[in-house]
Amino acid sequence: MRSLINILDLSTQDIEELITVANDIIANPEKYREKCRYKKLATLFYEPSTRTRLSFESAMLELGGSVIGFSEANSSSSAKGESVADTAKTVSCYADIIAMRHPKEGAPLVASQNASIPVINAGDGGHNHPTQTLADLLTIYREKGGFDNLTLGFCGDLKFGRTVHSLISAMSRYKGIKVVLISPEELKLPSYIKKDVLKKNNIPYTQTTSLENAIADLDILYMTRVQRERFFNEEDYLRLKDSYILEPGKLRNAKPDLAIMHPLPRVNEISVAIDSDPRACYFKQVLYGKYMRMALILKLLGEAEK
Ligand code: NCD
Repeated sequence: MRSLINILDLSTQDIEELITVANDIIANPEKYREKCRYKKLATLFYEPSTRTRLSFESAMLELGGSVIGFSEANSSSSAKGESVADTAKTVSCYADIIAMRHPKEGAPLVASQNASIPVINAGDGGHNHPTQTLADLLTIYREKGGFDNLTLGFCGDLKFGRTVHSLISAMSRYKGIKVVLISPEELKLPSYIKKDVLKKNNIPYTQTTSLENAIADLDILYMTRVQRERFFNEEDYLRLKDSYILEPGKLRNAKPDLAIMHPLPRVNEISVAIDSDPRACYFKQVLYGKYMRMALILKLLGEAEK
């Protein structure tokens, strides 16, 4: 594998290997400080980001490499009309690896077909976000000790939430997984994912609009933000944005070892009063995301085995 566009580009064994490397980085950071010396990461971000871009940049810097790139489309030649394919060919002359975020589904795939260096999808429209999934998987692994026999609840914008799409795909390969889809009618999981991922892998799933009714069964609660930037009109967004707000009272029936996750940024979906609950894992996800991106960069640059 040369690029990471969809989480399924990685086998479950690849994911295990990345987790092993990430855990080793956490335990022995000094071993990795020079691994990517003289290597350059290009971050091509055509859409806003705080965590993902800074996480990639910190990952490369902590490996001893350096970083070039842009953080808004307006400051790149795409504002002059340059295609993603041409930008990918150009950046291949400057860098060793690319992380690309783009509002259009499929743009990082096009980049990977035109670049001569590995391309990592850092989020494409409402489609996929495989490196957030790597962060999520390390969090689940460290919280739960593995991936089998878990009941996962996904709550919020399941239609446009690309992190949800990628995590469901990744989890569909493990044993004894059950999925509870909690969303307003208008923001249900797209039917292509139900068909191609959940049904195809015989994953039992239920759909509900009520978080309260679902919470008691869950091992993982994955909250998401309503994706304002993907709505066609503001009125719909305003009507749906506060559909779910997790407050301490709503955890009354939750398991004592529930893991509460969120890819962030949060808007109102999780009250700050939850942050001090030991079940809140969302800031751990941020940290683990950096370690998994370090492990991924090492793998794609062929530095992992050295
Ligand atoms: C997510 C994304 O960009 O899809 N953020 C992230 O990368 N951690 C989630 C979101 O924006 O809601």
